[in-house]
Amino acid sequence: MGKPKNQTHIIRKLMPYVLYTLIPLALLHYYTYISPRCYIQIAHKRLKTTAASDSITPPVQGKAAELKNQPRCDYFDGHWVQTIAKPLYNGTSCGTIKWAQNCMINGRPDTGYLYWQWQPKDNRCPAPVFDASVFLGIIKNKHIAFIGDSLARNQLESLICLLSTASKPELVYQGGDDLKFRRWVFYEYNVTLSSLWSQYLVKGIDRNQSKGIDHNTLYFDTPNEKWASELDQIDIVVFHNGHWFVQKAIYYGEGNQLLGCNFPQESNCTELNFYDAFRKALRTSLKEVTKRFIKSDKAVVVATFTLAHFEGDWDKFGTCLRTEPYKEGDVEMQDLEKNMRKAAIEEVATAVKDVKEVAGGLRIGALDVTKLTFLRPDGHPGPYMFPNPFANGKEGVMNDCMHWCLPGPIDTWNAILLELMKRWKDE
Ligand SMILES: *[C@@H]1O[C@H](CO)[C@@H](O)[C@H](O)[C@H]1NC(C)=O
Ligand SMILES: *[C@@H]1O[C@H](CO)[C@@H](O)[C@H](O)[C@H]1NC(C)=O
Ligand SMILES: *[C@@H]1O[C@H](CO)[C@@H](O)[C@H](O)[C@H]1NC(C)=O
Ligand SMILES: *[C@@H]1O[C@H](CO)[C@@H](O)[C@H](O)[C@H]1NC(C)=O
Repeated sequence: MGKPKNQTHIIRKLMPYVLYTLIPLALLHYYTYISPRCYIQIAHKRLKTTAASDSITPPVQGKAAELKNQPRCDYFDGHWVQTIAKPLYNGTSCGTIKWAQNCMINGRPDTGYLYWQWQPKDNRCPAPVFDASVFLGIIKNKHIAFIGDSLARNQLESLICLLSTASKPELVYQGGDDLKFRRWVFYEYNVTLSSLWSQYLVKGIDRNQSKGIDHNTLYFDTPNEKWASELDQIDIVVFHNGHWFVQKAIYYGEGNQLLGCNFPQESNCTELNFYDAFRKALRTSLKEVTKRFIKSDKAVVVATFTLAHFEGDWDKFGTCLRTEPYKEGDVEMQDLEKNMRKAAIEEVATAVKDVKEVAGGLRIGALDVTKLTFLRPDGHPGPYMFPNPFANGKEGVMNDCMHWCLPGPIDTWNAILLELMKRWKDE
């Protein structure tokens, strides 16, 4: 009897702090809404066995030289190996980690999840290792902007923490509700890093329950002006989004013509699935960057989709209690992450081709992190998205199995981003 009351109490207590987290969590509802398959069932079905290798492998190093004149390293495919190397930062050494992702400070008891390193499948490729001075050196006198949703922000905060180990940034701007727009400067390197919220990349109007509008409205033809108006001052763009596309939405195309929607069973519009919607939005965004920067030496990176790891229903206190990565073969990627990843990879390839055709200088690449992230069910905050989550008992505690602990596995996203930028610099 006391249970629902307790739950409500805890959720209410959390509200002001985790609203940012709860909004994307709430999205998961729509996985079930749109796809006939229950998202959570997917999580269970894909699981064959548990536990990753427990052998300790020292960090792989010194292989870069061997790779000269070899094909490029593909970081998409690989496996996690244990390492003794410590994370470059911790929950207190970096003042930027969003509260809800500061797992250490919030009391997450296990630390094993911090000691894994991503080893690309091609064994000649070294594990990507982050080096803050090298990163700052490469982006010296440049402005790098992360544009997207809360996963973009999660990645940006990892990068700020990693870079802070070499040089202290100054927060020079913050605005928007829940710090959706922020900018730091590393004066020592004249590097600007900014975070621009744009969950669809294109123009979009969120559903609004108080107006009785239960779907989002997207305009594929129009890049979101929040970032498009800032673009001229940005040298390196990182697009990172996707999760919001699974919500109910109506789509408009060229000349604001109605194209369709992703809930045709309920309305009379033509069906357009959210994979295609995501693809169209990305295409418009890449076209905008290409149009304005094609001849420049600027760069644009598209991070591929990463899936949450709820076991149990997200809205019924589903959890992610694993403390080790999955091993190759334990689990299989499903349609959602496969299709979202594919859309990004293909749109990047098209954009690269467009630039090549006119011998432009703009560099475009995919940050293909879908698989390495998918193998890390152990990297989420789970209940540790606020301090002492079990202060009122274990009942009814919310879990975040979508965002990522910092430090944590997604620091590897930025290690791979560094590899991508090194490659571009060498070319
Ligand atoms: C975090 O890092 C700082 C700076 O390196 C160090 O002084 C501190 O002891 C570390 N804290 C923990 C809990 O490891
Ligand atoms: C500092 O960085 C900005 C980009 O953020 C660039 O426009 C400017 O030219 C740089 N200043 C110098 C002195 O290189
Ligand atoms: C939703 O609609 C209400 C009433 O018109 C408005 O006050 C509110 O700002 C809207 N919310 C959002 C998020 O747009
Ligand atoms: C769909 O179209 C039918 C026939 O044109 C109409 O009767 C019905 O009201 C429409 N439904 C909606 C939700 O617009």
